[in-house]
Amino acid sequence: MRLTVIGTGYLGATHAACMADLGHEVVGVDVDAGKVAALRAGRVPFHEPGLAAMVARHTGSGRLRFTTSYEEAGAFGQVHFVCVGTPQRGDCDGADLTCVEEAFARIARHARKGALLVGKSTVPVGTAARLADRHPVEIAWNPEFLREGFAVRGTLRPDRLVFGVRTPRAERLLRQVYAPVLAAGTALVVTDFATAELVKTAANSFLATKISFINAMAEVCEAAGGDVRDLARALGRDERIGGAFLGAGVGFGGGCLPKDIRAFTHRAAELGVDLGFLRHVDAINMRRRDRAVALARELCGGTLLGTRVAVLGAAFKPDSDDVRDSPALNVAARLGLEGADVTVYDPEAMDNARKAFPLLGYAVSLEEALRGAELVLHLTEWPQFREIDPRWAVRLVRHPRVVDGRGVLDADRWTAAGWHFRALGRPAPEGAGGERRRG
Ligand code: UDX
Repeated sequence: MRLTVIGTGYLGATHAACMADLGHEVVGVDVDAGKVAALRAGRVPFHEPGLAAMVARHTGSGRLRFTTSYEEAGAFGQVHFVCVGTPQRGDCDGADLTCVEEAFARIARHARKGALLVGKSTVPVGTAARLADRHPVEIAWNPEFLREGFAVRGTLRPDRLVFGVRTPRAERLLRQVYAPVLAAGTALVVTDFATAELVKTAANSFLATKISFINAMAEVCEAAGGDVRDLARALGRDERIGGAFLGAGVGFGGGCLPKDIRAFTHRAAELGVDLGFLRHVDAINMRRRDRAVALARELCGGTLLGTRVAVLGAAFKPDSDDVRDSPALNVAARLGLEGADVTVYDPEAMDNARKAFPLLGYAVSLEEALRGAELVLHLTEWPQFREIDPRWAVRLVRHPRVVDGRGVLDADRWTAAGWHFRALGRPAPEGAGGERRRG
C-alpha cells in the first residue's frame, strides 16, 4: 500500500521505517527540513537499536522517502498516519494539541478522495471525534505503545493492535496495513474512538502506578528495615501481579509517563472524573529523587558542599539517549545546587545532557567519571554500569561511597570490595558503615 507518516520524530520515524519493512511504500512528512534532509541521507537523529540500519536500508531501496510537502504526501497516500508530538501545555497539565490539529488540517486539505487519516499521537479522549467532525475525511485512531529501546520490535511485534474506527471500511484498510503483523498472531481490539484513545493513557497510567507502588513500598522498607528488591521479587511471582515494572529506584521519567499521567488527570477532571490517585503516583515518583539526594548527603556526613560526585547515567532509562525529565539528570542538577562538584557520564546521552544541563561537568568515559570521586551515584541502569567490577572501581575513587539509585548493583560484592554501599529501599549491608546485616 502507499502510506504516509506525518511527523518524523521518534514515533514517526520508527513507524515509517517499520511500515516500509512490512513491504509498503512510505513517504515520511515533516515541517522540519533539517530532519527530512538527515533522514533522506539515512541518518536517524536519536539512539534506537536497529532503527538507523532499517531507515538506511529502505531509503536506499527507494521504498521509504521523506518530504516537507503535504501536497506531495496528499497525492501519494491511501492511508496517512499522524505521528506528531503532544507535549504538556505551558499553562496547565493538559496536552498541547497544536501540532496534531495542524497536521490533520493540512493533510485533510491535500488528501485524495477516499484516503484514511489515522491518528497515532497520544491525545486527550474526545480528540478523534472532534477532528472527525471538523474535517470531511475518514478518520481512525490507532494508538502507539512504543517503548524507547524496544521501538522497532514493538512496532513489528506489538503486544496488541488497537483500531478505533467508525466504519467497516476503515477497519478493512487498517487490517490491510498491518496484515503481516496480524498474520503473526498479534491480538487486535477493534473499538470506538474514545476507547482507542483511552487505551494508551490508561496503559501508561497503569505502568506509572505500578512503578510508584513499588517505590512507595521502598519508602516503607526504608522506614521498617525491609528490602524492596526481595519484596518485588516475591510480589512478581504472583501471576496476577507480574514482575515487570516493579523496579524500585529513582522512578520514572522520559517524554511519556510523566506528561501522560498529568494530561490524563487533567482531561478526566474536565469530564468530571476525579483521578486524584494519579497525582499521588506523580508525587511518590518525584519524592524518590529527593530521597536519592538525601541519601547522597547522608553518606557524605550531612553536606555535599565541595564533594566530587560521579553520576553514572543521564538518559531517563538505558538504551536511550533521551534525557527528557530524566531522574538521573534531575538528581545530578540538585546535587550541583547543593554545592557538589558533579561529573556525569552516560554511554549515549552525553550530547543531549550537555544541551539540557550545560553547567554540570561531563566525563568522556566511565573511568574518567570515577577517578577521584568522593561519592558515586548509579542512576541509569546501563549494562556497562551493572557490570562494573567494584574492585576495579575502588582503586579509581578517592572515597569508596556509592548510592545505587536503580537497585540493581550487587550490594555484597560492592561491600566486599570495600565500598560504603547504600541503595534506595534497601537496608545498608553489613560492613558498609550502616546498621547491620546480610550475606
Ligand atoms: C513508556 C511506555 O512503556 C510505552 O508503552 C509508552 O508508549 C511510552 O511510555 P518509555 O517512556 O519509552 O515507554 O519507557 P519505559 O520503559 O516505560 O520506562 C519509563 C520510565 O520508568 C523510565 O524512566 C524507567 O527507568 C522507569 N522504570 C521502568 C522504573 O523506574 N521501574 C521499572 O520497573 C520500569
